[in-house]
Amino acid sequence: MGTAGKVIKCKAAVLWEPKKPFSIEEMEVAPPKAKEVRIKILATGICRTDDHVIKGTIVAKYPVIVGHEATGIVESIGEGVTTVKPGDKVIPLFLPQCRECNACRNPDGNFCIKSDITGHGVLAEGTTRFTCKGKPVYHFMGTSTFTEYTVVDEFALAKIDAAAPPEKVCLIGCGFSTGYGAAIKTGKVTPGSTCAVFGLGGVGLSVIMGCKSAGAARIIGIDLNKNKFEKAMAVGATECISPKDFTKPISEVLSEMTGNNVGYSFEVIGRLDTMVDALASCHMNYGTSVVVGAPPSADMLTYNPMLLFTGRTWKGCIFGGWKSRDDVPKLVTDFLAKKFDLDLLITHVLPFRNIQEGFELLYSGQSIRTVLTF
Ligand SMILES: NC(=O)c1ccc[n+]([C@@H]2O[C@H](COP(=O)([O-])OP(=O)(O)OC[C@H]3O[C@@H](n4cnc5c(N)ncnc54)[C@H](O)[C@@H]3O)[C@@H](O)[C@H]2O)c1
Ligand SMILES: [Zn+2]
Ligand SMILES: [Zn+2]
Repeated sequence: MGTAGKVIKCKAAVLWEPKKPFSIEEMEVAPPKAKEVRIKILATGICRTDDHVIKGTIVAKYPVIVGHEATGIVESIGEGVTTVKPGDKVIPLFLPQCRECNACRNPDGNFCIKSDITGHGVLAEGTTRFTCKGKPVYHFMGTSTFTEYTVVDEFALAKIDAAAPPEKVCLIGCGFSTGYGAAIKTGKVTPGSTCAVFGLGGVGLSVIMGCKSAGAARIIGIDLNKNKFEKAMAVGATECISPKDFTKPISEVLSEMTGNNVGYSFEVIGRLDTMVDALASCHMNYGTSVVVGAPPSADMLTYNPMLLFTGRTWKGCIFGGWKSRDDVPKLVTDFLAKKFDLDLLITHVLPFRNIQEGFELLYSGQSIRTVLTF
């Protein structure tokens, strides 16, 4: 291995501060320390959560390398790494699995204490491996994939089947697994039920795929952008509606459409008003509503507690409730066995240097998932 133990100079998309475009820079990536792994990124998807950092609605430390939905190859390993070796195909995990904390040890838990959801921007050892123009550059959720090379903690890495196509299975690193798991693991959608999905981006469409595979009889997609409806129907929605066509809340519209029988609702946008309306949409007694959209860091929510008093269940989930290191390799195997299709979610594939164009496609509502290749 020619590069092992040495600093690698490579191209990376740096966000120097919030609300500014990416700048493609030459960055130095230090070798992995103990229990860390350096990866060459092969493909990475663009998720709305990355945009939350650009906009500054999710806490992060700047300058930062965002990106958290990727496939890569292990370039080198630090001392004491036992679960991967150079040449292994891997998916970095924004939600790690240390296998030691309470959440990891609980069969129903997955929110590992080692995750960097609060934005410290460093690896477990406490420092960053990225330097640009002599300044430290911070990590994002322990992944940072908008770069040719990155370093992650061993507990934030899943080894996957070498035959997996990188530009597709990168979606298993976030969007697909999050949505699919929200339906089948967190919501526990039952056969014959009626589901409502608020937000038809890459994650919302994956919720629909999960509802369908769980045997839901009726799946209603909701989005302001009607251009999303065709894709939603293709992945399993039975009908779609836009809030623009109604003057009353969508919860009332859904109640009329279904005879007050939405068993499961999912908020997959990240807005407070739609979180409450999605809750109100599910049946007042036996309904379950799942918050999947990332809440803005600084915002508080008020809602009428009567919504819960009558018996509704309100849940949230990170990464679809999956235990990442255990379940990501299995999801990749399921993909290779054609148990689900990722092609419908990928609307654009662009070279990494066109990252800004990839985000413009997200802003204009034209893309579902853009995958950047290296
Ligand atoms: N819980 C997790 O682990 C997790 C993981 C990944 C993403 N997320 C979050 O999930 C959300 C969705 O991600 P995505 O990549 O699919 O985003 P996206 O931007 O591609 O999709 C959001 C969709 O919501 C629609 N929308 C916006 N405002 C609306 C409104 N008021 N009413 C109806 N529709 C509206 C948009 O038109 C768009 O189609 C984001 O908040 C993201 O941060 C959470
Ligand atoms: Zn994501
Ligand atoms: Zn843990």
